[in-house]
Amino acid sequence: MKEEVANIKKEFLKEIKEVKTEQQLADIKVKYVGKKGKLTLVLRSMGKLSPEERPVIGSLVNEVRDEIENLVEEKKQELKREELQKRLQTEDIDVTEPSKKIKRGSLHPIKQVIKEVEEVFLGMGYEIADGPEIEKTYYVFDQLNTPIDHPARDLQDTFYITDDVILRTQTSSVQIRTMENKKPPIKIICPGAVYRSDTVDATHSPVFHQIEGLVVDKNISMADLKGTLDMFAKKCLGEKTQIRFRPHHFPYTEPSAEVDVSCFVCGGKGCRVCKQEGWIELLGCGMVHPKVLQNCGIDPKIYSGFAFGFGVERIAMAKYGIDDMRLLFENDARFLKQF
Ligand code: DAH
Repeated sequence: MKEEVANIKKEFLKEIKEVKTEQQLADIKVKYVGKKGKLTLVLRSMGKLSPEERPVIGSLVNEVRDEIENLVEEKKQELKREELQKRLQTEDIDVTEPSKKIKRGSLHPIKQVIKEVEEVFLGMGYEIADGPEIEKTYYVFDQLNTPIDHPARDLQDTFYITDDVILRTQTSSVQIRTMENKKPPIKIICPGAVYRSDTVDATHSPVFHQIEGLVVDKNISMADLKGTLDMFAKKCLGEKTQIRFRPHHFPYTEPSAEVDVSCFVCGGKGCRVCKQEGWIELLGCGMVHPKVLQNCGIDPKIYSGFAFGFGVERIAMAKYGIDDMRLLFENDARFLKQF
């Protein structure tokens, strides 16, 4: 029987050399040491042996079985290594291959203008303020010295949510929010969306954007307002830009003015963009009305301030030569990616 065991071992050693796959290996294991494997059958037939021979053959069979199991395990590891090696060789990655191009978006022209204006004012020491688009009439009108019968509050012009909550019609509401929360010196600009009940056409949209500015401190004068707006116009629209003030009325400033800039397309000679006038209307502004300061708990005998507000669409349209405001809101990527 010893010989039989030795032969089984020899046969196994020969077969395992030929093994190429894990499946073949598993089959061989079953063939030799499985429940009905060759070696197992030897163990089962030990009944025929004499009591002296039994332990000798028993331990021999166990030894050989351990050996076979070890060799199977080794072979298994070897096959795994080979497999990995093969994959490493065939699945290599070419890091120099050009990647698929990711389509990049671009900033909307409105956002571009806002960013540019922010840069200019940040450079002059301003902070950027924010306020809600759904706003109390208290902030949009009452505190801004705009009485209940003022035409700006007309139901025809303003989107009312309740009697005293609206979609803000101007970013000037942020002036009040700022002054109620912060004592002078104040230097802020506030960009944001505003809403008016306008019918859509080439120059109107029920939603558009404004940038508000507010400065409150001791000894602030109209000269500061002029100097600031002159600087802003030159930085944003070109060094040669001139500004002019025209008297106007706003309830929350006194005196109030509208400001025009020399046409930055023709330089003032007259062209299509400025409608042959040489000037383009840019913004409203003025010295903060003493009542407004008082409303916010700021003493107008000690402090004074200026404020201004302008439409972003108008600047974007003039700057980029866009002749229809609707293009800015239709969001056709083919149009927007030009800027
Ligand atoms: N709120 C005005 C508008 O919507 C613009 C404006 C005018 C803002 C004068 C101001 C200002 O801060 O002082 O037309």
